[in-house]
Amino acid sequence: MRFAKLVPTLVLVGFVVMACGGSGNGGTTSAKKIALLLPESKTARYESKDRPFFTAKLKSLGFDTNNLIYSNANQDAPTQQTQAEAALTNGASVLVLDPVDGAAAAAIVAKAKAKNVPVISYDRLILGTADLNYYLSFDNAAVGALQGTALLTALNGKANAKVVMINGDPADNNAKLFKQGAHSILDGKVTIAKEYDTPSWSPDKAQTEMQGAITAVGKNIDGVLAANDGTAGGAIAAMKSAGISPLPPITGQDAELAAIQRILAGEQYMTVYKALKAEAEAAATLAYDLATGAAVPSSMTNGKTTNNGAADIKSVLLTPVAVTKANIKDTVVADGFWTKTDICTSTFAAACTAAGIS
Ligand code: BGC
Repeated sequence: MRFAKLVPTLVLVGFVVMACGGSGNGGTTSAKKIALLLPESKTARYESKDRPFFTAKLKSLGFDTNNLIYSNANQDAPTQQTQAEAALTNGASVLVLDPVDGAAAAAIVAKAKAKNVPVISYDRLILGTADLNYYLSFDNAAVGALQGTALLTALNGKANAKVVMINGDPADNNAKLFKQGAHSILDGKVTIAKEYDTPSWSPDKAQTEMQGAITAVGKNIDGVLAANDGTAGGAIAAMKSAGISPLPPITGQDAELAAIQRILAGEQYMTVYKALKAEAEAAATLAYDLATGAAVPSSMTNGKTTNNGAADIKSVLLTPVAVTKANIKDTVVADGFWTKTDICTSTFAAACTAAGIS
């Protein structure tokens, strides 16, 4: 009798507890938002690789991707500042920020810090702030060194070789590192006939710069050190319209599909493959741990740091790989970055077979 009477009471109490717990937990978990703030869209990687890899990894960790705040700043620093402030107002628990302007982005970190929101510097380093939590990128000086080394190989000891350098955006700390890395290999071995920094990493501006170089130096340019595939594309367009044939060896970076196909067609000598899946997934895992308050395993950074001018920032730095016609198959294809079907369209079928990709 007494037991029977108690049952409805227990059920009722249980229901009330569940209802409270449910709404309480629901309130806190749904408040966890992660913001991914990418810098531009003229370079293919951000929308075609970084964003989808990051989103998929968060999903696999059980994160509700409706709570992922995403913005792309189209290479405009004030726009990025506004987007970051909107993400903070919107309740972001962590910012994953690939800065348009490494120095200007310190102001974003300050705003985040005021709200106790950790910031991960994604791919490009945010400079001059001790409040940055993590930096996740590649060994970017090594990227430039790979480009320089490949160019020397292609020049095959040619005496007094004239090289044009098309560097990236000076507001991007990576561009500075790529440039330093390339100079560390090329200086004293070739003549740098002309050198440009390319605002906004714009392929159109790279094309104009290359036109200027052809006007100043003449058509007998022996090699072009282009900092990424977008600027390589601009430089190639300028050389083609000036009637330069055959094209001299030209470098790149990002292993964009268009660049892989240009390498097969013999228009571009090399690119640098960076495993963007590994980079984006590490960032997603780290952001998830920071958002949920989970302990970040020390194996994440293994004690590695990078000085950003204000402090030593805990860092994850992945290794870049040089790609020429000879190893497309063993790098980007083996890694699933591009499939044979992506690369070997009818135009490139014969070149694919020759490169052992078919
Ligand atoms: C990235 C490159 C990219 C360039 C232009 C750099 O910071 O590391 O992968 O090509 O920005 O967006």
